[in-house]
Amino acid sequence: MIEVNGLVKIYKLTKRQMRQRKEKDKVKIAVDGITFEARPGEIFGLLGPNGAGKTTTLRCVSTLLSPSEGDIRVCGFDTAAQGVEVRKRIAFLTNELKLDGHFTPRYTIRYFGSLYNMAPEEIEARAASLFKTFGIEGFQDTKIDDLSTGMKQKLSIAVSLIHDPEVVIFDEPTNGLDIITARTVTDYLMSLKAEGKTIIVSTHIMSVAEKLCDRFAVILGGRIVAQGTLEDVLKAAGSQTQDQVPDTILDLEDAFFRFYQRQELEDQASGVIS
Ligand SMILES: Nc1ncnc2c1ncn2[C@@H]1O[C@H](COP(=O)(O)OP(=O)(O)O)[C@@H](O)[C@H]1O
Ligand SMILES: [Mg+2]
Repeated sequence: MIEVNGLVKIYKLTKRQMRQRKEKDKVKIAVDGITFEARPGEIFGLLGPNGAGKTTTLRCVSTLLSPSEGDIRVCGFDTAAQGVEVRKRIAFLTNELKLDGHFTPRYTIRYFGSLYNMAPEEIEARAASLFKTFGIEGFQDTKIDDLSTGMKQKLSIAVSLIHDPEVVIFDEPTNGLDIITARTVTDYLMSLKAEGKTIIVSTHIMSVAEKLCDRFAVILGGRIVAQGTLEDVLKAAGSQTQDQVPDTILDLEDAFFRFYQRQELEDQASGVIS
């Protein structure tokens, strides 16, 4: 279970960041008061365009960043006060590779298992099962530098899951993956869901959200503009229609653009210039 309550994250910008981004303010409100919960046995999605605040939210949930305001509980543990307990129970996955190319998959996964104080037999059994799932069995003793990009990505995911975490947090799960690798990853997320794990993913891709997620939150400019099942979100978009023709909402993409237009109108009205 992940419970996020009134999360706010404000970044202080350096002079250089202000110059580069042409920002006048010294701070950037990346996440502006969001509340949601992700439950065991479901895939919860954060859906929003680049810069919406998805990665920042997931980093706060993973204890990599501390919230400016609000609180977060993971499996009942407070991320601020009980970070160690939270980190034992989660995997934070991204597609940014962080493996050392000089080592082999076998060595790497053993090393990560030992960081979680797992017993050697436990590591071997778990590694064998993950390597099988991700098709890495035949490459266990190949130097990581010599593996294909897809294989490296799958290894990085397998390694992050060595401790069989209750909660899996995946930032943009299919980004940068080839179609076959992406499918392996989404199938695996579905099997974790069937095992009763709590899974949260971020994505800017509507079809990924629609296919993978049981419930999601649509995020724009650090705020949740709609939340629930696909049906709930489509309904919410229909009720926001400006043109009195609610039945023109066909799919998530239509709904998303409706929220987006609505937000732009509101921003213009309140004088926010983006
Ligand atoms: N370390 C940082 N310092 C300053 N601003 C940041 C930092 N990280 C992200 N931001 C800003 O916060 C906002 C949200 O970013 P992010 O959470 O990465 O969004 P997303 O993952 O949805 O694309 C963006 O405007 C981004 O530029
Ligand atoms: Mg991101």
